[in-house]
Amino acid sequence: MRRLLPVVFAVACAPVEVDKPTPAQGDTATSSSNTSSDPTSTTPVTDAAPDFANPAEAIDSDPADNVLHVALTAGTKSHAIGDQVIDGYAYNGQTPGPTLRAKIGDTVIVDLQNDLDVESTIHWHGVSVPWAMDGVTWQTAPIAAGAAFTYTFEVTEAGTFWYHPHFDTESQVDLGLYGVFIVEDPSDPVADDELILVFDTWDEQHDDAAEDVADHHGLDSTRTLWTVNGLVQPIYTAAGGERVRVRAVNVSNTGYLDLPPTLLIAGDQGLLPAIDDQVRPLLAPGDRAEFEWGMDTLWVLQGQPYSLNGGPAWGDPYDLMTLTVSLPTTSVPLDWGLSGALPTSDPGFTDITYVFTGEAGGDGWMINGEIFPDVTIETVPLGAEVIVEVRNLSPTEHPFHLHGHHFEVLSTGGVPPAFQSIEDTVNVRIGEAIRLRLVADNPGDWMAHCHILPHAHQGMMTVLRVGP
Ligand code: C2O
Ligand code: CU
Repeated sequence: MRRLLPVVFAVACAPVEVDKPTPAQGDTATSSSNTSSDPTSTTPVTDAAPDFANPAEAIDSDPADNVLHVALTAGTKSHAIGDQVIDGYAYNGQTPGPTLRAKIGDTVIVDLQNDLDVESTIHWHGVSVPWAMDGVTWQTAPIAAGAAFTYTFEVTEAGTFWYHPHFDTESQVDLGLYGVFIVEDPSDPVADDELILVFDTWDEQHDDAAEDVADHHGLDSTRTLWTVNGLVQPIYTAAGGERVRVRAVNVSNTGYLDLPPTLLIAGDQGLLPAIDDQVRPLLAPGDRAEFEWGMDTLWVLQGQPYSLNGGPAWGDPYDLMTLTVSLPTTSVPLDWGLSGALPTSDPGFTDITYVFTGEAGGDGWMINGEIFPDVTIETVPLGAEVIVEVRNLSPTEHPFHLHGHHFEVLSTGGVPPAFQSIEDTVNVRIGEAIRLRLVADNPGDWMAHCHILPHAHQGMMTVLRVGP
């Protein structure tokens, strides 16, 4: 099977010089707050910046209201990133792939046509699908080159999810195979607009060079070219006074996004119990977050340098996108009717412990000293409440992700969250222990792994068996 990688990464690894739009007056108003009205901050930014656009949505071919039936074709694609062309892959020729939009209770049918010259699958990241639909190739064959497969499942939880291959994941995701999967709750308030922000990086190290990842990405994240929906620093323009619901997904293989505090309304698994406008949301690879932004004045969304070798890093913030308005004004926040649910108290016992070890340039990245697929399968009974402790004894951070289930974060470094926190991907900092509670209600052999894809590729992955 021929791989496109050498060509692609010759291009993709080249250092990229990005022309930053003039930070203008937006900068100060901006990263800390998006609600203040500063009439001096309406200076137009550079006209070279592309207009923001949401990824086009997949067409639903089923007239029934409770069925979403779409067709996805995985094929090759030349991604136009800034002024570069990067040969890779895409679904339906789009960067990112089509957004799938369903609502709670819908049946989802996805016909995948694999037009790649390699095998592939689709995994529904964050969605509790039946095991046979999970797109992993543990005990099941991937979809052959030229072959087709139909995924079918029901969606029962609202949230911002995403889909990507789970075969040769590190390369296939990196090459552009990913899209957003939205499950709506019809009882949510309706915002004036919805922005879908798919964040990716385009200069990642790869495969053989993967041991350099920590060095390359950890020390200076401003060297990474971030795109939003494949666009370099796009501009979104609103009339002024709109409230927008923002669904953000970090699909980067290794890049962390440390964003400014804004109205954080949802995490991986739907609306939070309470709005948080104080925390700097950290989107590790695979993570999602939702925000409510008031389109009141010009501001620039900036990321803060973040090192997987130890968190917030030295350096200047970097621009991700510009949001501007024709007429500065003041908007009124939506009422999300949030639950205020408090965290479950920690029962104190631990059923499963996952210890992360390894180091850049070492013998592999491991969970409990094991390298996938040579792993011990932990089994828990169907329906059991399971307490998992994830400990990170390695010198880099790792986002822990579990398939087929969501989990509640009971504590991080011994500290419970202020409100109930339901996630499927959670970053574990160096030396930290995170305690998670899940109800093992979905039978199957579920992958549990680090979502830094080169780490998973090098073995940081295990299997949790639910059921007999
Ligand atoms: Cu998004 Cu096992 O992955
Ligand atoms: Cu990792």
